[in-house]
Amino acid sequence: MTERIALVTGGNKGLGFETARRLKDMGFRVYIGAREAERGMEAASQLNVEWLQLDVTDDASVRHAAARLRERENRLDVLINNAGIAGSRKVAAELTGEDAESVFATNVVGPVRVMNAFIPLMETSTPPRYRERVQRTRVVCRDTRPAAVRVASLLAALLCF
Ligand SMILES: NC(=O)c1ccc[n+]([C@@H]2O[C@H](COP(=O)([O-])OP(=O)(O)OC[C@H]3O[C@@H](n4cnc5c(N)ncnc54)[C@H](OP(=O)(O)O)[C@@H]3O)[C@@H](O)[C@H]2O)c1
Repeated sequence: MTERIALVTGGNKGLGFETARRLKDMGFRVYIGAREAERGMEAASQLNVEWLQLDVTDDASVRHAAARLRERENRLDVLINNAGIAGSRKVAAELTGEDAESVFATNVVGPVRVMNAFIPLMETSTPPRYRERVQRTRVVCRDTRPAAVRVASLLAALLCF
């Protein structure tokens, strides 16, 4: 059977690291995304997987990561949008617009940016599969058609706080 290919964003630690480890055990060829090179290389070496520099808040970084993956693979089978931040634990009266923007930039805009860059590589996978992990919940969308992705992203935004 052809080796399946998976990308886990924020794969250098925590749930992303463990997800990458399990995917590798299941026989996937695994790429982890990491925003910081040293952390990415260290985790990739521990997991014996590949790594891509990928900061979900940085358009150039995400596009560059997609281009690098395309150079090496002709498709992506599973994308796990795991990278995220918990945000500040302030009470409502202390929460600022800046706090909210930071969480939205990473947890909502980030996955949309990653989808936009990587879905073209997923179109050749059968079936296309997209999985997004967000604050306190998980949005799963096995359909990469625009309407389905929009609904998943909107749900992620609503569930973010
Ligand atoms: N743990 C839980 O109980 C829980 C519950 C519900 C939801 N979640 C969500 O599940 C995801 C993983 O949680 P976790 O507990 O494993 O968190 P974690 O240990 O803090 O790991 C988060 C990962 O995301 C990466 N990351 C953060 N901002 C990024 C960015 N701008 N670009 C690329 N990578 C970025 C981190 O990289 P750095 O090492 O560079 O910071 C790290 O690899 C998060 O989205 C979190 O909000 C977690």
